[in-house]
Amino acid sequence: MAPIKVKDDIYWVGAIDWNIKDFHGYSTKRGSTYNAYLVVDEKVTLFDTVKKPFAGDLIHNLIKVLGDPEKVDYIVVNHVEMDHSGALPQIIERVKPEKVFCSPMGFKGLKEHFHREDWPLVEVKSGEEISLGKRKVKFLETRMIHWPDSMISYLPEDKVLISQDAFGQHYATSARFDDEVRYDELMQEAAKYYANIVLPFSPQVEKLLATVKEMGLEIEMILPDHGVIWRRHVADILAAYQRWCTHQSEEYALVVYATMWQSTEKMAMAIAEGIMREGVEVKVMNASLEHRSDIMTEVLAARGLVFGSSTLNNNMLPQMADVLTYIKGLRPRKKVGAAFGSYGWSGEAVKHINKFLEDMKAEIVHPGLKVKFVPTHDQLKECVEMGKTIARAVKERKDA
Ligand code: FEO
Repeated sequence: MAPIKVKDDIYWVGAIDWNIKDFHGYSTKRGSTYNAYLVVDEKVTLFDTVKKPFAGDLIHNLIKVLGDPEKVDYIVVNHVEMDHSGALPQIIERVKPEKVFCSPMGFKGLKEHFHREDWPLVEVKSGEEISLGKRKVKFLETRMIHWPDSMISYLPEDKVLISQDAFGQHYATSARFDDEVRYDELMQEAAKYYANIVLPFSPQVEKLLATVKEMGLEIEMILPDHGVIWRRHVADILAAYQRWCTHQSEEYALVVYATMWQSTEKMAMAIAEGIMREGVEVKVMNASLEHRSDIMTEVLAARGLVFGSSTLNNNMLPQMADVLTYIKGLRPRKKVGAAFGSYGWSGEAVKHINKFLEDMKAEIVHPGLKVKFVPTHDQLKECVEMGKTIARAVKERKDA
């Protein structure tokens, strides 16, 4: 895609990846983009690069804007991960930059990735500013949002925040701005990105949002490294990050299950029925049919987490173990939870699921429901009652 003018002297020069459908385990059904931004000032500066196979797209875009890519003076590496630095060797070779700015951890990270001693790397500390001519760039380290090297670049004269992965979305589209796409689709992708990438680092996000507020940074545009640029909905995405990083949830319960002979499935449906009878929104997801990253997006919004599995070889079914291991690693908090499942002769799945819920620091509001082989009518009524118990807890913990 050709370069797009973002603002006077600022251009999007990245690449669109329509075909990426799996981003190391995260299902990216809408593809993604690798955004790079070019600021044309006395010192022409490129912020981030692209994934290695897209180096040609970036060079093409630099030629379109500058004529000669060697007019680039500075490169800023806001984030070392390979989807943004993979093309760096080709870009450095082509543009021959005077300086490549990065955070202190970025300095180490770039050396550990590329093993080059001849690159003109310059460390910048958090709060440090450089001048590009008419404008300054202020760097803010954002360690662990979501890598140790991560930093953001703020352009005070333009009121532009170049935010690397933060506020991103895996969202390939011909549009480059938030007001050119469907709002619900955009927020769904932003939530999925937060749930699957940023959630474990919520304490750092909370601190960053507080810092941005304290510093009184005026932000007219947020330019992330993936997806579209925020210009109309800046306040919305900042408010959403504030909600997500403080684990605010909705009056909503999620039932996720894996089943061998449909007994656990019958229990799941009866529990969902009980939740509905209490007037609480519920969604049921079969772990064998849904992608773990889509389940995780629902976990972000849900206040109630109800997990079920049949027992297999003294444990839960492997597809449920996959989903729970993934969810636990992303550290959802402030949830109410419960477990259920059918079994043949031992029935350990519920115990193992409860351990996952404890590790997620969920409040377990029911000791767990086990059914031998196929549930009876009365046992399904018990499942309905369990659903009601969960729903009442979801309603009561409004500030969970
Ligand atoms: Fe988009 Fe963390 O790389």
